[in-house]
Amino acid sequence: MEIDHQRWYQGLGIRLSRRQYDPLIPIPAENLSIVKTTCADFRPFPEARVEVITDSPGRIFDFILGSYGVIRNPYAALAFIGDMRQPHVQEAVGYTGEAVVLEATALNLGTCWVAGFFSPAAVTHRVKLAPYERVLAVSPLGYPLAEKTLAEKALTGFANSRKRKPLTELISGLSEEQWPIWLKSALEAARIAPSATNRQPWRFFIEEKAVTISTDIGKLDFKVSKRLDCGIAMLHLEVAALYSGIHGRWELQDSPQVARFSYA
Ligand SMILES: Cc1cc2nc3c(=O)[nH]c(=O)nc-3n(C[C@H](O)[C@H](O)[C@H](O)COP(=O)(O)O)c2cc1C
Repeated sequence: MEIDHQRWYQGLGIRLSRRQYDPLIPIPAENLSIVKTTCADFRPFPEARVEVITDSPGRIFDFILGSYGVIRNPYAALAFIGDMRQPHVQEAVGYTGEAVVLEATALNLGTCWVAGFFSPAAVTHRVKLAPYERVLAVSPLGYPLAEKTLAEKALTGFANSRKRKPLTELISGLSEEQWPIWLKSALEAARIAPSATNRQPWRFFIEEKAVTISTDIGKLDFKVSKRLDCGIAMLHLEVAALYSGIHGRWELQDSPQVARFSYA
């Protein structure tokens, strides 16, 4: 399956992490089936896959004492799974997982990448993993509550969700007047990608006919790899480029670089 840029582009600007769901609205079977088809068919990297979980998905988020339950009442969940033998597994999972997130967004479903507090054991009870696979993150899936509850607002504030670094802080290389016109919107699309604790670890080096994404240096990864965040930003950049008619290709790179997008 190719990137469905016509469908996913709109989602770039409207997607937000949603943590609390309406328990009374089920996901219609046809929409769930579309999400499952995207999981099965969008496999640009063999080392990354996404599974849909519908069997008591709330259990996956019952991590601390149950009462911490920041994620409430998801109708389903996504599990973002990687083959840990592969060196580029993190960015592959970020890229592949965000495609499913953007498809869910196109179906008006809420999502939230969760790599911190979830129960890997609850996932492995529901999804069969190979010994070399790991669940790198999960997401609730469902119809979010129309209004954010106070708890959700507090968490959004805690994650400093809405704020993004200005593009000028993130780029180096060719100056803006030397860019092709479409590039700014593609970089903006990458800039607004979600990242763990909204840390936005991506940096962009602009050359003639290429953009390289790297992780910021000097700050620790903590538990979640910055390469996963950068994989998400890679997909955003490519969706926006395709929307402007630009076809490029990614070459994965070693740390601190993540990947280089070159186009004709
Ligand atoms: C890899 C990754 C891991 C995340 N882990 C968590 C998490 O454990 N708990 C949580 O509430 N939000 C988590 N988030 C959501 C971020 O806090 C959120 O994406 C960020 O604050 C930006 O907000 P937005 O998604 O609404 O644009 C995670 C996001 C990413 C991309």
